[in-house]
Amino acid sequence: MAVIVGGIATTHVPAIGKAIAEKKHNDPYWKPFFKGFDYVHYWLARTKPDVAVVFYNDHGLNFFLDKLPTFAVGAAMEYRSEDEGWGIPVSRPIPGDPALSWHLINTLVADEFDVTMCQDMLIDHAVTIPMALIWRGPASSAKSWPVKIVPIEINTVQHPLPTLARCLKLGRSIGRAIETYEQNLRVVMVGTGGLSHQLDGTRAGFINKEFDELCLEKIVTEPEALTRYSIHDWVEQSGSQGVEFLNWMAMRGALTGRVSELNRNYHIPISNTAAATVVYDNQKESERKAA
Ligand SMILES: [Fe+2]
Repeated sequence: MAVIVGGIATTHVPAIGKAIAEKKHNDPYWKPFFKGFDYVHYWLARTKPDVAVVFYNDHGLNFFLDKLPTFAVGAAMEYRSEDEGWGIPVSRPIPGDPALSWHLINTLVADEFDVTMCQDMLIDHAVTIPMALIWRGPASSAKSWPVKIVPIEINTVQHPLPTLARCLKLGRSIGRAIETYEQNLRVVMVGTGGLSHQLDGTRAGFINKEFDELCLEKIVTEPEALTRYSIHDWVEQSGSQGVEFLNWMAMRGALTGRVSELNRNYHIPISNTAAATVVYDNQKESERKAA
């Protein structure tokens, strides 16, 4: 049976892709951010996932404002990227796992999530930058990343957005689906984006450290407590792009075991964003007793 080994959450701002390409890992501005991935690399070397389910929001590469699904699930053999600007190299294609994708889609639709199914899907920096951070190496290099992916898009761009509660439930449906998947796969959940930031308007540059710390605490111990915030509350507290936290909520929902935070790096700012990198354990009670 498939097992969920844990979760990783990280910001995905485009400037990171340029910094990776220019090898700025030890630059004084970037070093405190990139150091936050040392533990991620250590943990992945131990847990060795086969597949990453990546909750992210598309920024206009695959979906635009004319047609923007609330939830879309990739079911492709591989996922390509294209030039988005900002000096980010175009990522190599990333292999998919269509059989797992269809299993997730079937479960989601049975659970009354009417998702858009994508057998051809471009992935943007919200997937490719986290991949380059988590598994190292410029997105364009020949070295391959050691996982397949299932990208799951959540609309954080065009209102009305799904609620925090809805995204938590989406994640829980995914988590249950993976637990019933008969292939012996090790699966890591990835949520990308956030934390607090606002790129436009009179509050451009807005960051709310106090609220970010509340989110980082509650998402482990009591994610339901965060569902009391409406999307408009969230924009007020976290900025208009801080709603990317919806991806984190879905990732957290998919962690079906006993969840604990293994490592956290919170750093302000990275390109006007409060950058957070967190690793979550997802230990099943039975495994805990056997340990
Ligand atoms: Fe973003």
